[in-house]
Parts: sequence; C-alpha cells; structure tokens
Amino acid sequence: MKRRMALTTFLLPAGYHRDSWRRPGSRADELAGLSLMADLARTAERAKLDAVFLGDCVHANSTMRGDIMMNGFYEPISTLSALAALTSKIGLIGTMSTSFTEPYNAARQFAGLDHMSGGRAGWNVVTSRDGFQNFGGSGAPDPEVRYDRAAEHVEVVQKLWDSWHDDAILVDREAGRWLDTDELVPINHSGERFQVAGPINMPRPPQGRPVLVQAGSSSSGIEFGSKIADIIYTAQPRLEGAIDFYGRLKDAVRGHGRDPETVTVLPGIVPVIGRTEAEAHEIAADLSSMIDLDAGRRQVAGDLFLEIDDIDFDEHIPAERFSEDPKMGTRYHIFRSKAVDQGLTLRELIIDRARSTGHMFFVGTAGQAADRMIEWFDAGACDGFNLNAPYNPDGLELICDLLVPELQERGYFREDYEGDTLRDHLGLDRPSA
Ligand SMILES: Cc1cc2nc3c(=O)[nH]c(=O)nc-3n(C[C@H](O)[C@H](O)[C@H](O)COP(=O)(O)O)c2cc1C
Repeated sequence: MKRRMALTTFLLPAGYHRDSWRRPGSRADELAGLSLMADLARTAERAKLDAVFLGDCVHANSTMRGDIMMNGFYEPISTLSALAALTSKIGLIGTMSTSFTEPYNAARQFAGLDHMSGGRAGWNVVTSRDGFQNFGGSGAPDPEVRYDRAAEHVEVVQKLWDSWHDDAILVDREAGRWLDTDELVPINHSGERFQVAGPINMPRPPQGRPVLVQAGSSSSGIEFGSKIADIIYTAQPRLEGAIDFYGRLKDAVRGHGRDPETVTVLPGIVPVIGRTEAEAHEIAADLSSMIDLDAGRRQVAGDLFLEIDDIDFDEHIPAERFSEDPKMGTRYHIFRSKAVDQGLTLRELIIDRARSTGHMFFVGTAGQAADRMIEWFDAGACDGFNLNAPYNPDGLELICDLLVPELQERGYFREDYEGDTLRDHLGLDRPSA
C-alpha cells in the first residue's frame, strides 16, 4: 500500500495571513466565540484530516502591536473540550507551555480532554519565548534551561498518565469494588525541578498517553522532540532544508532507540488556492493589499528584537542589526537569512512574514498545490503537512474541498477515518501501563 500523508490544520480563526480578517466574509466579529471555531473544525473533519491544532501564547504582545493572527483568544483546553462535543473523529491538539504549568495540572487537563473526546487529545509541548512577565518573571530563561524543565515536566506527565494501570477499574458490582487500588501506583518523582507524589486522580486516558507534539527545530529542539514527540511541527520554506531537517530528526529519533516511522514530521504550508491559477494570484494580491505596513513594521521589530524605526520600507535592514546567536531560535534565523542573504527590503520582509511566518507559501490551483506537496513527500522531506489556511473560513474550505480531494484521488490521503483515536489516525500503538 502506498505510504499516505498525515494532514493536520493550524486553526487560526483570524487566518494565517496577517490582516486577512479584513476580507469580506471573515467572520472577524465572531472571534473568541465557539461557532466559528466549530465550523472550522467540522470543515476539517469533513476532509478527514488527522487533527486540528490550536497554538497558544500567554501574553498579548503581538495583539498590542496590532496583530490578531496569533492571538491567544482561544485557550486550547477549553476550546478543544467544546470541540470534542461537536466532532467525533478528528484529533484535537492543543498547545500548553511547560514554563508556566505544573505537570500535575497538565497531565489532568490532557487526560481529561482525552476522556472527553474518546481518545483524540494531543499536546503541543512548548517552552515559550514570551510571556514570563505575566508569571512573576521578566525575560525568558535561555532555551537550554527551558528545554531542561520541559524534559522533566513531560517525564512527570507521562509517569502520571501511566500511574493508573490499564486494569485498575473493576466495576465489580457484586463485590462492591469499582477499583483495584493496588493498580494505582504513586510515582514519587523527585527531580531537579519537580517533586510529585502521584498517582493521578483519574483513570488512564483512552489513548494511554495522549499524542505528544513538539515544534522546536534547533539542536536542543531536535534533541527534545526526537525523544518525546509523536508529531514534529517545523517551519521549512525550502525543499532542501526540509530534507536535511527530516534526515537529522529521524536520525535523532533512531539515536533514542525509537522507530523513526512512529514520529510524524509535518512542515507547515500556507496554500492560497484558486479555481484557476489566475484566481489564486488575485486572492494572494488581495491579501497582500490588506497588510497594514506600519503594524507590520512593529511586528517585525517586536518578533525579531530589532530597532527599525529609521528604516524606509524600501530599504534593507543592515546586517549588523541582526544577532547571529543560535539562541534566537530557528524562525528568527529564517528571517535573518531572508533579510541578510536574500536581500529582502523591509517592505518585502513584512509581506513575507505576514504571509507565512517562515513556512512554505504556495499560490496556485489545488492540483498544483498537490503536486508540490507530493514532491516534498516523495523526496523524503516530510510525512505530511500542517495546513495553514491563509484566511477563514473560505480559505480553509478551499483547502478541504479542493486540495484534500486532489490528494485523495492520487492515493496520498485517506478517503475516510479507519479508527477512532488520534493514535489510530497516525498508525500508532496504544502504550500499555
Ligand atoms: C508550527 C509551529 C507551531 C508552533 N506553535 C507554538 C505555539 O502555539 N506556542 C508557542 O509558544 N510556540 C510555538 N511554536 C514555537 C516552538 O515551540 C519553538 O519554541 C520554536 O520553534 C523555537 O524553538 P527552536 O529554536 O528549537 O526551533 C511553534 C512552532 C512551529 C513550527
């Protein structure tokens, strides 16, 4: 049987393309409400996608700069719990930061979501670069420090998920025993950062362990993700870089004694789909025309930690204003390279960043987008894609109604769900405890 893609979609209700909420039909007046999110999730489920994905941040920095693309209006656990009741098959992946949570809470929240959804929960484990000011801190600790905390945090969460053995629940009405308490095992974790006695206070999640997702592409990110994750998200604007990353990631997975086939690598794609190529280009031009350049300047300055008030839109940002420190993160360096090596002007950088935030940006027909995705998939650059709808809800509908069927017809994507849990969709076994 032909290897098939995994497809998830990043639900950004305001649209992945910055300022795309200005399009007629965007339902921007409904943001933060359930109805729009429910329609997007149902559209994705109709296309049989593996999962919807909710990013998250715990600050309003970009919102304060006038950008509502990545907004945090939708707190993932509450939103996905509501969506669990309105969908039946699609996976529900939510972001939660290990820097601002305790493992006991995180374990309960994702176990709860897994129970509420019948085994469809996934956790995108992030360490966060921003938001520390809202939790009694100032700047972010170094990535290594954050990743160290994340590693121990996830270890504790997994121990807690396993702390109710699979056969703990008896429901023996005659004997009056609902539970075999011998099958609940305290974890007595005593580490550098966390002391957790356990066990957790709810039955083992339907998936055993909810699916773990990770999105760091630096060497520390690869080390962490390759150890714990079932899905890896990554921003890869070019094929060669994606192939290189895929190889390094899978080698690292092997290095941890894991089967590389059990880790699904999903670069993001932002596909602007039209019924004709000309229509797709018209939509892309329309989206570009909506970008607020002044807000874009503030956004580039804020995201890339740059002083650029003195730079005209058609000038280049001087190379020396950029840091070469790898600690700035992978996406910082994608944009540094676009400005410094490819010579994008400030205007071009704002537009590029508004379109894709470092992901592959594609404009064309569904057939052309499918060609590109299959090229990457067959070249060993990925195991599928995270689909980023440039605008909503119409942009996601075009992806789901035109692009996904194109992949199905060519045998690269499932025609229907073949199981009930997110692990089923990804072809992953349920770990026992
Ligand atoms: C597709 C994708 C989605 C991400 N979503 C979030 C998110 O919702 N919240 C967050 O704080 N970081 C998010 N990140 C950032 C990563 O978790 C990570 O911190 C970032 O890629 C920097 O790590 P690195 O330098 O190891 O690549 C995301 C990254 C990618 C590629």
